[in-house]
Amino acid sequence: MTPWLRRTPGPTHPRIEFGADYNPEQWTPDVWASDVALMREAGVTVATVGVFSWARLQPAPDRWEFGWLDEVLDLLHEGGIAVDLATATASPPPWMHHRHPEILPVDADGRTVGPGGRQHWRPTSPVFRRYALDLVRAMAHRYGEHPALAAWHVSNELGCHNVEDHSPDARIAFRDWLRERHGGDLDALNRAWGTSFWSQHHGDWEEIRTPGRVPAGTHPNPGQQLDFARFCSDALREHLRAEVAVLRELTPDVPVTTNFMVMNETRGMDYATWVPEIDIVSNDHYVVPGPHARDELSFSANLTGNLAGGAPWWLMEHSTSAVSWQEINRPKRPGEMHRDALTHLAHGADAICYFQWRQSAAGAEKFHSAMVPHTGPDSRMFRDVVALGDRLRGLAEVAGSRRVPARVAVLFDWPSWWAAEQPFTPSDRVRYKDEAAGWYRAFLDAGVRADVVPAGAELAGAALAGYDIVVAPMLHVVGPERAAELAAFVDAGGHLVTTWWSGIVDDHAHAVLGGYPGALRELLGIRVEEFAPLEPGGTVTLDDGSVADVWTEPVDVVDPSVEVLVRYTGGGTAVAAADLAGSPAVTRRPVGRGSASYVSTRLADRGPLLRRLLDAAGIVPELPGELAGRVELVRREGFRFLVNRGDAPVDLAPLGGIEALAGLRSDVLPGRGVTVLPDR
Ligand code: GAL
Repeated sequence: MTPWLRRTPGPTHPRIEFGADYNPEQWTPDVWASDVALMREAGVTVATVGVFSWARLQPAPDRWEFGWLDEVLDLLHEGGIAVDLATATASPPPWMHHRHPEILPVDADGRTVGPGGRQHWRPTSPVFRRYALDLVRAMAHRYGEHPALAAWHVSNELGCHNVEDHSPDARIAFRDWLRERHGGDLDALNRAWGTSFWSQHHGDWEEIRTPGRVPAGTHPNPGQQLDFARFCSDALREHLRAEVAVLRELTPDVPVTTNFMVMNETRGMDYATWVPEIDIVSNDHYVVPGPHARDELSFSANLTGNLAGGAPWWLMEHSTSAVSWQEINRPKRPGEMHRDALTHLAHGADAICYFQWRQSAAGAEKFHSAMVPHTGPDSRMFRDVVALGDRLRGLAEVAGSRRVPARVAVLFDWPSWWAAEQPFTPSDRVRYKDEAAGWYRAFLDAGVRADVVPAGAELAGAALAGYDIVVAPMLHVVGPERAAELAAFVDAGGHLVTTWWSGIVDDHAHAVLGGYPGALRELLGIRVEEFAPLEPGGTVTLDDGSVADVWTEPVDVVDPSVEVLVRYTGGGTAVAAADLAGSPAVTRRPVGRGSASYVSTRLADRGPLLRRLLDAAGIVPELPGELAGRVELVRREGFRFLVNRGDAPVDLAPLGGIEALAGLRSDVLPGRGVTVLPDR
């Protein structure tokens, strides 16, 4: 069981934590007192403090000023508010880059990244690391025993701005990392990267660089790119490890977290490999408006819940309303704030927190929404915040309950994301996240619960065994172990569905020979000789009436047991659509009680095919037909959450009037509404 917040002595009744990043250094002490009073009014239980406090805590290399933070922590504690204390290492103070410009990252073009924003440090800088760990030590000594301290919050969104660094430090660390990965054998590295191509053979480790700027019209070695992506994620994890090691040594009873960014297109960190480093999984999520924004939130929350292994996790940041970093920052519509929070709760979050408590008056994010807006507490926003706090108190009994696993999983793999979208591939329109989220959405549309399961080395394998259907969308990187894992899943009676651009390369980004889909070819019983990506806007039609775009493949059936479920008709607007007439588009190879299916194109609507696959596996929606698709059903042990996916009210009569928790409605789900029912 993941340790949850350390509670100060007193009653430890279950509760959903509610709170925000609190940045008291932006305000005078008289505001702090009123902040605590307002937090109590809103039902805030936890505040994340100190994220950007380094310059105030250590104003000069040999000067420490903790007095103000002592006061803040005491005030919060007196107010009954627990503290998630940041190690404060996220953004170094100006004296550091002034004295040590060698901590500044270098971009792919060789330009030094300037200070003046935040996170302007090299993940591999020994100088930065030394200062950061001094600060962590100082924080742990000073506050390890403070009664308000409930958890440590390492750094902040590691990799948000500094995931890629091409500095001399990065180069040295990359070489060390490569030595380790390739067993200290330069020949092994040369083989892994296929350096015979373009005369790239390395004769000495010292020649190896990070994949920075190369001549126009060319691209760095694909094996080097994939290793570099892994290295960048690992380098940040190394920093996390270093801070965690200090905290564990000095305050072994305080749980440690760091806020992930499982959201939208953020892809630099393979969080599946980070989870073992921390006690509590926490995540930041911001909605990027678009036609599928709500479903993307559900996807991210779901994946976070499965990174946490089904145990409760912490929603560390989201926004009460508009953010300030998009091109157009629109406010949330009525109901959206509660819906977003409760959707995260549904997917296992036991803490619902925001960036930030009080909207800044100065600084780069002054137009970012907060719990207390510029207007002050006499505002619709603050009243809505108070109402949410109230609602979460009413849902206290949900706290601690685990996710109820679904029968279906969508596999999510960071290395496949990195490799599938490398340059010099058959189409620059390939979008990994879009394909994965598209399949997840198809399950939501069908009213069938699906888990988004991380495919990282530490987490996949055994995790698949519990599922009836596993969809592995665009699983591009498939080494021998992953291939064996999937074959074992099918042999054991599981139904695997995989899609175009899967199984194509091994762990070193080498094409798997003998025909596509490479490592999955035999399991699927098919063979593809050549990809046939489509021109922008071009479509093809299939004989089940569906339409597809972006990508097609002429599929040859090799194993006689393979059934062709859907064929290309030869119709559509794509220039070469006719060439595919009659060719298999979707195939299924029965294997014992299981099966392995392949979808060779990007379906505009995955629904019709999905329904056939669900029927074949005997999976039916858990909601009555009138609700399936319009409402997302999420289950935690003992509770069913219903989330209205749209803006129109949904009549809940088909559920038979089960009484909802916390005064939520059980007759009608308002547009953007959420309700919680007992699940007994
Ligand atoms: C996060 C960050 C916060 C704040 C927020 C604004 O990336 O951790 O400090 O900047 O975004 O949306």
